Amino acid sequence: MSARIRKAIFPVGGLGTRFLPATKAMPKEMLPVVDKPLIQYAVEEAISAGIEHFIFVTGHGKTAIEDHFDTNPHLEILLKKEGKTDLLNFLKNCTLDSGKISYIRQSEPKGLGHAVWCARDLVAGEPFAVLLPDDLFHCKVPCLKQMVDEYPKTAGNLVAVEDVPQDQTSRYGILSIATDDGKLIRVNGMVEKPSIQDAPSCSAIVGRYILSPEIFSELDKQKTGAKGEIQLTDAMAATLDRVPFHGMRFQGKRFDCGNKIGFLMANIEYALDRADISEEFKKALKNLSF
Ligand code: G1P
Repeated sequence: MSARIRKAIFPVGGLGTRFLPATKAMPKEMLPVVDKPLIQYAVEEAISAGIEHFIFVTGHGKTAIEDHFDTNPHLEILLKKEGKTDLLNFLKNCTLDSGKISYIRQSEPKGLGHAVWCARDLVAGEPFAVLLPDDLFHCKVPCLKQMVDEYPKTAGNLVAVEDVPQDQTSRYGILSIATDDGKLIRVNGMVEKPSIQDAPSCSAIVGRYILSPEIFSELDKQKTGAKGEIQLTDAMAATLDRVPFHGMRFQGKRFDCGNKIGFLMANIEYALDRADISEEFKKALKNLSF
């Protein structure tokens, strides 16, 4: 029987240079899609998948994330006085219980594998999830919940998969496929950011993982790979001989909010999906001239 997934790592140490100057003094994970920061979407997804402990791997200039998930007594008093219960409830939704949230500092940007390794003592010994907040999943059943539901069948390592255009393989970890039933892929290899020529398929790892703690035996070696960084994909590949590895095509849509177009598209999609503003927004969009 596979273990329950109780803990999740959120690597939030990245600089967000693609969104400068917006991210000069603000973490990129705090960029809002409509009115909610990216990081909150990821945390809500984790909560709906049953995650109980939230581990943020942070870096310089990221304290706004800590404040966001904490109480704000001044604001609460003010909203209570003004009788704004809806807004008060929004605030409550982004306060995580004391003791359920940990912050670990990644002092140097050495890559995703290194960020996950920084949290090793907090997750040691049990399988855990990793959520990359740049990847925003718009799904009826939240993406990580879909994976947690599938995990009893696979155990080992399980990653979310999206088939990407051939000319985009160099942006992703790409899977080499042993068997594929349309939903679950049994994987026999993977390459981080391969060129079109070197890509073993077009099935890309997208930002949701369930990982076996065995990954730390590889990450401990601190081996560097693509871009001179310690790559999570390389560490996963190195455990293929002893940990079963599957990819799962999720049901829904993913927005790459690490780039401007993906981020803008996410804002449009989420706004059109919001009962309180969608009609007005549609009218406003029609008035735009292209
Ligand atoms: C990271 C991973 C890559 C994965 C991608 C998904 O890359 O290293 O394997 O495909 O996230 O978004 P990054 O986007 O941090 O360069």
